[in-house]
Amino acid sequence: MSRSLNLAVIPGDGIGQEVVAEGLKVLSAVLPQDVKLETKEYDFGARRYHATGETLTDADVDALKRHDAILLGAIGDPSVPSGVLERGFLLKLRFAFDHHVNLRPSKLLPGVATPLAGQPEIDFVVVREGTEGPYTGNGGTIRKGTPHEVATEVSVNTAFGVERVVRDAFARAQARPRKKLTLVHKNNVLAFAGHLWTNVFNQVAEEFPDVTTDYIHVDAATIYLVTDPARFDVIVTDNLFGDIITDLAAAVSGGIGVAASGNINPSGDFPSMFEPVHGSAPDIAGQGKADPTATVLSVALLLRHLGYEAEAVRIEDAVSADLGERGSLPARSTSEIGDALSVRVAG
Ligand code: NAI
Ligand code: MG
Repeated sequence: MSRSLNLAVIPGDGIGQEVVAEGLKVLSAVLPQDVKLETKEYDFGARRYHATGETLTDADVDALKRHDAILLGAIGDPSVPSGVLERGFLLKLRFAFDHHVNLRPSKLLPGVATPLAGQPEIDFVVVREGTEGPYTGNGGTIRKGTPHEVATEVSVNTAFGVERVVRDAFARAQARPRKKLTLVHKNNVLAFAGHLWTNVFNQVAEEFPDVTTDYIHVDAATIYLVTDPARFDVIVTDNLFGDIITDLAAAVSGGIGVAASGNINPSGDFPSMFEPVHGSAPDIAGQGKADPTATVLSVALLLRHLGYEAEAVRIEDAVSADLGERGSLPARSTSEIGDALSVRVAG
C-alpha cells in the first residue's frame, strides 16, 4: 500500500524561513520509502502584505483546506503594524479551521539548561482552548481617545466549546502513563466562566474514572510551574490562561529553541497546523543562528497527529540524543543542526 502526505508549508517571516527548511529536511529523512511526500509552499507574512495588502484571503483558506496538515515557521515583522498579521493571519486561520485544541508539550530533556534549581522532572502537556475565551474579538470601545474611553473584551465560554477541549484533554491524559489531568482556571473570581469550566470538567471526569483529576487557580499554577513542575501531567485551561502559562512552561523546560506546538482540529474536518512556539526573531534572522529544534519537534507532533507514531518517536529520540551531546560540541549553524538530526533519524 502506498501512502501520501500532502503538506502545506508556510515558512513566513524572519527565521521562519530558516527553521522550516530544516524541519522539512528531517521530515524527508524520517518518512518511510512508501510514503509519498508532497509539499506546497505558501507565501504569507510581511512580504506578501507589503506587496498586496493581503494577509489571508478566502481563496488562500480554500487552498490550505486541501492539505493533510500545515507546517508554519513564524509570521511577524517590525515593518508591519502590530496586530495586522496576528489577527489577519494567525487568528483568522485558527477560527477558519476551528483549531480549538492548542497543544504545547513541555519536557525537560537531559543536557538542557533550565533556570530552575537542580534538574527537576518536567514532562507535561498543556491543552489550551484555542477558539474562545477573551480571544474572539467580542468587545468594543466607546468614547475612544477621551478621558471617558470605555473598552470591553468579553470572554466567551460555551458549554460546547469547553466540553470538546476538556474531553480531548481527558483522552490525552488517559493515554499517558501517569493519567493525571489538572484544570487551571480562576473559578473563585471569574465565577461565571469558572462555574461552566468546573462543572463540565467534573461531568466529563465521570467518563474517565482511571484519570486522576486536580484543580488549581491560574495564579497558583505559575508558582507550581516554578517550584514543583513535576506535579503536572496534562493541564487543560482557557485560551488566555493557556497563552500565559505555556510561555512560562517553555521558559522552565529548555526555552524557546525547543518549544513545539500544534493547533489541532481533532475532528479532522480541517488540517491541523504545527509550529514552533517562537516568533520570527528579526534580531537573528538571516544569520544561520536560529535553533531549528522547536520546528523539528513540531514536525514530530505533526507526524503523531497523522498516525506516524514510530516516526514521531524517532525524531524525539534524535532530538534527545542531539541535545544531550550539545554541551560538548562547538556552536553549530541552523542547517548543521538540521543535518545532524536528519542523519540521526535516518540511521
Ligand atoms: P521571538 O520568539 O521571535 O524572539 C524572542 C527572542 O528569542 C529573540 O531574542 C530571538 O532571537 C530568540 N529566539 C526565538 N526563536 C529562536 C530560535 N529558534 N533560536 C534561537 N533564538 C531564538 O519573539 P518576538 O521577538 O517577541 O517576536 C518577533 C516577531 O515574531 C513579532 O512580529 C511577533 O509578532 C512574531 N511572533 C509570531 C509568532 C507566530 O508566528 N506564531 C509567535 C510569536 C511571535
Ligand atoms: Mg504567546
